[in-house]
Amino acid sequence: MTEWRLLIAAGRAQLVDLAQEVQDLPGVGRFRSQLLRDAPTGAEFDLVGTPARLLEPALPDLVAGLERGPQAILPRDLAWIAWTLGLEPGDTVVEGGAGSGALTLALARMVAPDGRVVSYEPRDRHRHILERNLQRSPHAALVEVVPQELAPDSEPVPCQALVLDVPQPWELVDWAAAALGPGGRLAAYLPTTGQVAQLVAQLEGWGELRVVENLQRDWTTRPQALRPQSRMQGHSGFIVSARHYA
Ligand SMILES: C[S@@+](CC[C@H](N)C(=O)[O-])C[C@H]1O[C@@H](n2cnc3c(N)ncnc32)[C@H](O)[C@@H]1O
Repeated sequence: MTEWRLLIAAGRAQLVDLAQEVQDLPGVGRFRSQLLRDAPTGAEFDLVGTPARLLEPALPDLVAGLERGPQAILPRDLAWIAWTLGLEPGDTVVEGGAGSGALTLALARMVAPDGRVVSYEPRDRHRHILERNLQRSPHAALVEVVPQELAPDSEPVPCQALVLDVPQPWELVDWAAAALGPGGRLAAYLPTTGQVAQLVAQLEGWGELRVVENLQRDWTTRPQALRPQSRMQGHSGFIVSARHYA
């Protein structure tokens, strides 16, 4: 069992697991977790001589601190995928290629408190990282991890939305049509244009077809030098989305 909180102390916010007996934190030092368990949520308290505040972590706190495995989807793309899938509390969403679970945590947050995320991940090593990362989410109980490949002959899982972060999503388009209800939405995350072309060709007859690439330019935040940063995160992936009308 884990019990994650966000500790604000010594000018920084850090994720802490209250289930650990002892904490050893930069800027604060070493202390017993009981001090945090006894602390009020939200109000300022004294933590071994340092003013501190304990908060519930939000999705960006959880995703920023994830254990890294296979390439995780970046926040700019997580946001677009969540938007384009039109997720609502109570929805069922299927995910192919859960990897280290950055998207899984975001999906669970979107369909909470009573939705469902069905996440296929065939590789043991990735699934172990996924399961550790899921322990950070207050919505982990909504996630069902399926230790299998999503394949054209997989049993269809009735769902409102489907997201594919797998190398060959075009092979799963017929499966997606069988799983999605009328108006259901599909999104796929693809690093290369060749993959996009194959998927788009296979989506003939679907509605609202879009291909999006998100670019984000961060700025320096020093008041005397408020300007774009010299280096920016370049290409991550294309997001292909479409809607099943039938
Ligand atoms: C890039 S990772 C996914 C990262 C994840 N979206 C995230 O945000 O952390 C792709 C994953 O797809 C899995 N995978 C590959 N083919 C698959 C398939 N047919 N069905 C399900 N998962 C598959 C791989 O094992 C890998 O973990």
